[in-house]
This record gives sequence, structure tokens and C-alpha cells, in this order.
Amino acid sequence: MKMIRLKIDGKLVVAPEGTTILNAALKAGIYIPHLCYMEMKEVGYKNDCASCRICVVQIKGMNRLIPSCSTPIKEGMEVITNSSEVMHKRRVVLELMLSDHPKDCLICGKNGNCELQKLAISFGIREMRFAGKEGKHDKQHSISITRDITKCIMCRRCETMCGDIQGCGILTGVDRGFNVIVNTAFNKNLLETNCTMCGQCVAVCPVGALYETDNTFKLVEDLMNPKKKVIVQVAPAVRVA
Ligand code: FES
Repeated sequence: MKMIRLKIDGKLVVAPEGTTILNAALKAGIYIPHLCYMEMKEVGYKNDCASCRICVVQIKGMNRLIPSCSTPIKEGMEVITNSSEVMHKRRVVLELMLSDHPKDCLICGKNGNCELQKLAISFGIREMRFAGKEGKHDKQHSISITRDITKCIMCRRCETMCGDIQGCGILTGVDRGFNVIVNTAFNKNLLETNCTMCGQCVAVCPVGALYETDNTFKLVEDLMNPKKKVIVQVAPAVRVA
């Protein structure tokens, strides 16, 4: 395998040909924030559509920033990941993303486990500079998956997982411009599609657009309602020898 030598933030890095700048940097212990990019080698899952642009870096001799998650390394390349221009652009991208994102973190199913929230905290974003037009979509509940499409950031991780890995192709990008979101065909509830409820889309969603349906409150409500007959199934006890 041909090895490529390059410099990232002045550090000499050697990585196999075909490696992306992001992966070469991460392997060398240089962190570049990323949001849409995700790789799970064990199952052959790779989402590198470069849609979020959080991972932009500067290349010496180039007069524009490029996404590191989709750009392969080249011999002699000199990459800068932390110049003031790079940091400023990343911050603006993040602020724009947040401008049309619901501000209900405290009651969001992904609170504390949201990659967008973590990035906003790491960039010290405390105020909204841009007031964006916010998309409004009703929440869709199914037995095990809740879709809160208003929170979709179009990273397309779920689309890649559902189509390329699980072979279902239920979720896909629909509409144009400001209204573009990842959705089902004809905005159908997952229950009306061939979705197998495998939950892999939930596992890869970085924000609260897809999360496990929490039926706890509904169950407690039903249990307390004398008019409702609730059958609670308990798993049989297993004797451990
Ligand atoms: Fe590279 Fe989103 S992580 S563009």
C-alpha cells in the first residue's frame, strides 16, 4: 500500500493513499470537529456526503476552505486545521445550523447526548446571532421510533444506514431548498411503510430528529386509569446454575 506523507498543523503525518484528511488527522491525534461524517468499519457503514461543512480545513496554496471528511490526502500537502479563518467559518456554519433548529434542548429526547449541542457548547455559543426561518413538521410516533423532523440537520446518516446498510431505503432526502429534510415517501408514518423498526437510523442520528419512543408515561397513565385493562408482561425468571 502506498504511503502518503503530509503535514497537519506542522506535524508530519504518514497515512495510506486514499485516506481522508479527517481520518489522517484523527489517527495522528489532531481533532477536527465533524458532524455529518460517520464511519462504522465493522458493518461497512460510511457517511461522507460532506453536507454539514463543520470539518472545513485550510490547505496551503489553496484560496478556499475544503471539507476534510471527503478530501483525500496528497503527497506534500500542508493542512491547517485551527487558523482563525477556519475557526470562524466553522462557528458561522454552526450558528446557521442552530438558527433554524428548535431551541427546546431541555425537553428534547437527545438532551445531553446530542452532537449538535456538544459542538455548540465546545464553540461557546450562548446567543443566537441569526434568526432563521424555522421549518415546522409534526412529530411522528410509531411503536418504537419517534421522528421529530423539525430537528433534522440533513446529515443524511439515517438515509445511508437505512438504504445502503439495512437495504430498506425508507428514509430519503425530499423537497427542495429550505424545506429539504430526510423523510419517508409522501410523508408517510413509518408504520405505513416497510420499515422493520430496526432502530439503526436512531443509533446514527446525531440530534433529536430520531429517537426511541418512550412509552413509560403512557403506560403509567394507563395503569392508573381504572377503566383501562393493562396487561404487563414480565420476562420469566431465569435460574442461574
Ligand atoms: Fe465533513 Fe460534515 S463532517 S462536511
